[in-house]
Amino acid sequence: MIVVTTPTGNVGSQLLAELLSADRQPLRVIVRDPSRLDDAVRDQVQVIAGSHGDPVVLDHALDGAQGLFWLVPPSMRASSAHEYYLSFTRPAVEAIRCHQVGHVVGISSAGRTWPHPAGLLSAAHAMDAELECSGAAYRSLGMPFYMENLLRPLPRMRTEGVLSLPLSPDRPLATIATQDIAATAAALLLDPTWEGTDQIPVFGPDHLTPNQMAATISDVLGSQVTFEQADLEQQTASTIQRGVPERMARDFTAMYRAQQNGIYDEDWSHATPTPTSFRTWCESVLAPAARDVDS
Ligand SMILES: NC(=O)c1ccc[n+]([C@@H]2O[C@H](COP(=O)([O-])OP(=O)(O)OC[C@H]3O[C@@H](n4cnc5c(N)ncnc54)[C@H](OP(=O)(O)O)[C@@H]3O)[C@@H](O)[C@H]2O)c1
Repeated sequence: MIVVTTPTGNVGSQLLAELLSADRQPLRVIVRDPSRLDDAVRDQVQVIAGSHGDPVVLDHALDGAQGLFWLVPPSMRASSAHEYYLSFTRPAVEAIRCHQVGHVVGISSAGRTWPHPAGLLSAAHAMDAELECSGAAYRSLGMPFYMENLLRPLPRMRTEGVLSLPLSPDRPLATIATQDIAATAAALLLDPTWEGTDQIPVFGPDHLTPNQMAATISDVLGSQVTFEQADLEQQTASTIQRGVPERMARDFTAMYRAQQNGIYDEDWSHATPTPTSFRTWCESVLAPAARDVDS
């Protein structure tokens, strides 16, 4: 039995599709709102309704589980990233121990050896440290910037022709398509011959700067998109103004600063590139999303 968290999310939904098509293990999902699953998916899996942050739900869901896909959902409401990641993960560590789950694959971040505070990324690394003590064999997937992050600024790309992020325009930014994360997680869960704990860097094949990404986007979408470096301090202030707790907003700032300063570089140099290039992602995901935005 493999248990999948976040089956309605970017990574979780694609992972579930991969596991279903392999058809090798019974599957159980933990989902807050089962009606958000496709009917075809719901018919093929055991559904546990509730949040995977809830110890009671986890206790029920992990009974008899051999494998677990673990992902802490994004949150802007928590008081700090560190507190949030650990309080969300600790009940899972307890349940993994109690039910002696054999193999856990967790969604983390690249850059674990980075010596400076990196906000959300450091919080994900603290989560890894907890899961490594759960008694399960654990694989932490270490990713850079998700290509899917570009779906949020897509409306502005369409209306103003601007892609704005608080990142250096000329520094290569490591990226990954979520479909490649899902494929990596599926391969690990379907062939759990691994033992102990390890971190696996999961990086796409490109070495593009934000300026080069904007050029690729322009080419694929057929309309000019220019990259603009957003001011990090201004962005932090407006995040706080929108009601995000100050410490959490500063955790985002620390994450962007670490990305600007090269937190992914060491893992990037060791990673075996995954298949999906930035251009392929733009053609297969961004362009259809742009048509939806335009319609
Ligand atoms: N973005 C990046 O560049 C990047 C890089 C490295 C690592 N990461 C990590 O990747 C993860 C995000 O993955 P993703 O893009 O697949 O996420 P996503 O698409 O935003 O999906 C979030 C999932 O979490 C569920 N969810 C939300 N709040 C929940 C709650 N309180 N309790 C239970 N479930 C909840 C949602 O389900 P419903 O809303 O349907 O209930 C949904 O299935 C984060 O852990 C992040 O740190 C991101």
